Amino acid sequence: MNADARTIIVTGSNKGIGFEVVRQLAKQNHNVILTARENIKGKEAVDRLKAEGLNVHFLLLDVSDDASIKHAAQQVKVRFGKVDVLINNAAVLLREDQSVAEGTTEVFHKTMRTNVFGSVQMVRHFLSLIPDGGRIINTSSGGGSMSDPVGGWSPVYCVSKSALNAATRHLAYELAGQNISVNAYCPGWVSTDMGGKSAPRTIEQGADTAVWLATAAISETGKFFRDRKIIPW
Ligand SMILES: NC(=O)c1ccc[n+]([C@@H]2O[C@H](COP(=O)([O-])OP(=O)(O)OC[C@H]3O[C@@H](n4cnc5c(N)ncnc54)[C@H](OP(=O)(O)O)[C@@H]3O)[C@@H](O)[C@H]2O)c1
Repeated sequence: MNADARTIIVTGSNKGIGFEVVRQLAKQNHNVILTARENIKGKEAVDRLKAEGLNVHFLLLDVSDDASIKHAAQQVKVRFGKVDVLINNAAVLLREDQSVAEGTTEVFHKTMRTNVFGSVQMVRHFLSLIPDGGRIINTSSGGGSMSDPVGGWSPVYCVSKSALNAATRHLAYELAGQNISVNAYCPGWVSTDMGGKSAPRTIEQGADTAVWLATAAISETGKFFRDRKIIPW
């Protein structure tokens, strides 16, 4: 039992960092909603956790599809009545993403639609379910930093994370009056399908700051974190 159990939803959590965030939060006996854009993948992920003795809820959720987000929010309202913590984790990094100047419109749209608009739409549709003291955590990347030098890799993805950082600051400002915090974090370069095999960080390390932001006694809002510390935008 966890006397401070929170209801927490994590987007894109059938694998990778999102899956590990769900696992760590479930280990702490929070009421965790694992979500995936495909039923089979989501159910397999839930079963993997069940085999470890962890119980989580499952919801089908595609963050690039407004109707899917709306439907998920209705389901959460009926089944749980609230969401204490929303963790926007789902994102894409497309193989064709090689140039802002010369890349296709499709790459730009798909990346922005999922990584930026998907996260913002999650906030808009779930906001009425987030209580006073609730938290929104946006999964960003150092690639979106406006103070580090440009690395040249996956530039449209990096632009999307800069935009997500900007949205984080504005949402934090707008939601301060409702006492809802909004922060972004960078998991570091993590060995997942997205990060690739040469990434130096484990998935456990990548998930740590999100779990900490979701559960620790912190009052920060409108900030960018890595390794539990504030970093420059
Ligand atoms: N790995 C790194 O080095 C790294 C570094 C910095 C930031 N990040 C960020 O960390 C987060 C997690 O990344 P990861 O490395 O765990 O990536 P990943 O292994 O590729 O997992 C991404 C997850 O997002 C889901 N997803 C993609 N589009 C979706 C959509 N439209 N609706 C719902 N779910 C969707 C994927 O579902 P499917 O299985 O269906 O594709 C998958 O579950 C992302 O925000 C990423 O940008 C990662």
